[in-house]
Amino acid sequence: MPTELIAVLDFGGQYSHLITRRIRECEVYSELLPYTTPARKLLELKAKGIVLSGGPSSVYDDNAPKCDLELFKLGIPVLGICYGLHLMVQMLGGRVKATNRREYGKTELEIKNTSDLFCGVEQKLISWMSHGDYADVLPVGFEIIASSENCSAAAIREPTKRLFGVQFHPEVSHTEEGIQIIRNFTNTICGCSRSWTPRSIIDTAVQRIRSEVGEGKILSAVSGGIDSTTTAVLVRQAVGDRLSCIFVNHGLLRKGEESKIPVMLEGLKLNVQCVDASKRFLERLKGVSDPEEKRKIIGEEFIKVFDEESAKLGKFECLAQGTLYPDVIESAGTGSPASRIKSHHNVGGIPEWSTFRIIEPLKLLYKDEVRRIAKELGIPDSIVRAHPFPGPGLAVRIMGEVTGEKLQICREASAIVEDVLTRRELYDTVWQAFAIVGDDLAVGVLGDQRKLGHMVTVRIVKSLDGMTADWVRLSEDIMEEISNRISGEVPNVTWVSYSITSKPPSTIEPC
Ligand code: XMP
Repeated sequence: MPTELIAVLDFGGQYSHLITRRIRECEVYSELLPYTTPARKLLELKAKGIVLSGGPSSVYDDNAPKCDLELFKLGIPVLGICYGLHLMVQMLGGRVKATNRREYGKTELEIKNTSDLFCGVEQKLISWMSHGDYADVLPVGFEIIASSENCSAAAIREPTKRLFGVQFHPEVSHTEEGIQIIRNFTNTICGCSRSWTPRSIIDTAVQRIRSEVGEGKILSAVSGGIDSTTTAVLVRQAVGDRLSCIFVNHGLLRKGEESKIPVMLEGLKLNVQCVDASKRFLERLKGVSDPEEKRKIIGEEFIKVFDEESAKLGKFECLAQGTLYPDVIESAGTGSPASRIKSHHNVGGIPEWSTFRIIEPLKLLYKDEVRRIAKELGIPDSIVRAHPFPGPGLAVRIMGEVTGEKLQICREASAIVEDVLTRRELYDTVWQAFAIVGDDLAVGVLGDQRKLGHMVTVRIVKSLDGMTADWVRLSEDIMEEISNRISGEVPNVTWVSYSITSKPPSTIEPC
């Protein structure tokens, strides 16, 4: 565990994760914790700063979430953001009111004090606001350090106790100099050093793997994606030859991967065994259409394959997985109002009978951090740049039952989407780009004949970490090229549509 922590208490705001990520961009380690985390726990964790996130509640709601009052007395700096500010004001004896002029969107701020939180920022700056309540009466000792037209207490502080509150969202990119404001809090006010660097992340991970694995042997499943490859390379650094790797072809891979990936992994000297388990996975998925059930089956089948292979290769006590922080949060939540979204196969799918000790060296990391450490570890650029591809593979892009025909359509159409973006040098500018197929059929005209064929939906999204995402506004000629190629080259496709929902309310993968 890194020695310096900024704890972000999660009140369920849509930007809670973004706060943690932004703090890590300042090279300071930060974790999202439940808002109920007791003050003594924060002391135990040696938190050097506490951030209270925004949230959908109003402090006057019945059951409005509250933090431990004691945390304001620890002598640790606190920054309340939006709801976090309201809560701090109310809990410390001030008053919060509902505004009749709700502020939403870009709002100009006038900075009144640049000695600490706003050190080095312009006197006037654009901030991102989204609030219905505001601090009307400040608690004793607090003063206003920034105002907007409709909110005089847009930023406040209690300088002796180092308690700060901002009504706006410094973590959102629309807030000018937001990162500077966050850095002022974490590095200057809390006194954190810039120690969360790729090198220190690697060293911490390697040490932790060594202590978790002990003298045992460890098996790692590699898919050729950045998460599992980085995991395996870290484990190899930690335990050397006691690591064995397996690449499982579950029959749900993208076009050509079953032959490309083993070659790519050879270069990393990971001692990889390839297992073709496609038949058994597809057999078990027959007749299953519920998304959660599909994920559970795939997770379980993976573990069965590992168990069998491990018996052949020798006794392995541990299994390494490339689970990331958002996987953990999305599968379990922080116990805060944000609830479980879907079971990522490697989090929700470990069956109870499994005796493997699970080692997850990336489970506190975001994707961009994994990309940075992968580079530092010398993992090839083709793996570092590749779009995320979920463990359950194309099964999460096939709505309803996974059939041979739908699998073929999804695989071919996705390859076309990637190819068009690559040729147009757009591949690296998007988070993910793929095709989705379900059971909907639509009438088309193929070769002068009316024909009932499949509908394919193309989904291309931009995202920072997969937690939220926006659909990409493609130019008309690119959309046309994708559509023409899919309907012309993929058999039995009569319609192509484009997905125009963001996350939320959708998720990135449809199942
Ligand atoms: P969703 O669909 O939840 O996806 O918005 C967020 C990000 O996670 C990836 N994803 C997964 N990755 N196992 C994985 O390893 C999974 O079961 C899984 N489900 C989704 C998804 O591709 C996106 O980048």
